[in-house]
Amino acid sequence: MTEITSLTNKGVLTLSLNRPQKMNALTRQMYGQLAQSLNSAASDADIRAVVITSEGEHFTAGNDITDFMENPPTDESSEVAKFLGAILEFPKPLLAAVKGNAVGIGTTMLLHCDVVVASPTAKFSMPFASLGLVPEGGSSLLFPALVGYQRAIKIFMTGESFDATQAFEMGLIAAIDVDALHGVSKIAQQIANQPPRAIMNTKALLKARNHDSLAAVMKAEFELFALALQSDEAMEAFMKFMAKKG
Ligand code: COA
Repeated sequence: MTEITSLTNKGVLTLSLNRPQKMNALTRQMYGQLAQSLNSAASDADIRAVVITSEGEHFTAGNDITDFMENPPTDESSEVAKFLGAILEFPKPLLAAVKGNAVGIGTTMLLHCDVVVASPTAKFSMPFASLGLVPEGGSSLLFPALVGYQRAIKIFMTGESFDATQAFEMGLIAAIDVDALHGVSKIAQQIANQPPRAIMNTKALLKARNHDSLAAVMKAEFELFALALQSDEAMEAFMKFMAKKG
């Protein structure tokens, strides 16, 4: 069964993370499929907006830790780098519906989305330092820009999570809705009905200010992240998680 399902309805492509038994932890294959779907949606005139959502109770528990240990991404040709590149460059409206846990890249990918709706159950966290890693996905630039240095670094350094109300107050999400997917799909449809060129130009203008510096930061983050993945600190944290699984 595919771990990324896709459905197109009236110009809105919905991509759903579908590995609920592993809390939608993301594998290389899943990143690869997401990247491919986004890249083909970018050049498909019939797709006007994309929604990322999830099956089950959670958005995603972040990168699959077994995959991190067995197949650490080391360069730009890795599937995770392709996914991050695809969301950085995606020219059309990208929306997300979040419920339950959104760990690691589950939160950092939202910083690239244009509209995020979360359910009251949503719980966001970026525990990179706790795992012996460093912020990724441009979050070391985008998150402090959004919430300020003090709040950002406290969240990065403690690994603490925050809820939907806090995420709304920070500006990480646009709305809270008990049915986040329904809520965001309505907005996606509204956007899909707008003149498409004007929508893409609007996004390009709003993203332009950060684009080049963001691309440079993402490259630097990726290099540090790849090194950190091979560190004793990371290995110890991963072993701890594996041991907890019993
Ligand atoms: N990678 C691989 N498997 C994961 C996973 C991950 N990132 N997150 C959860 N899973 C799996 C668990 O191993 C478990 O599978 P199992 O039943 O076959 O053992 C299943 O998903 C459910 O997770 P579980 O840990 O039992 O749920 P929980 O409610 O007790 O805890 C979390 C939820 C999110 C706190 C916990 O799963 C967790 O810390 N996950 C790791 C998050 C993380 O560090 N991600 C990387 C960020 S860079």
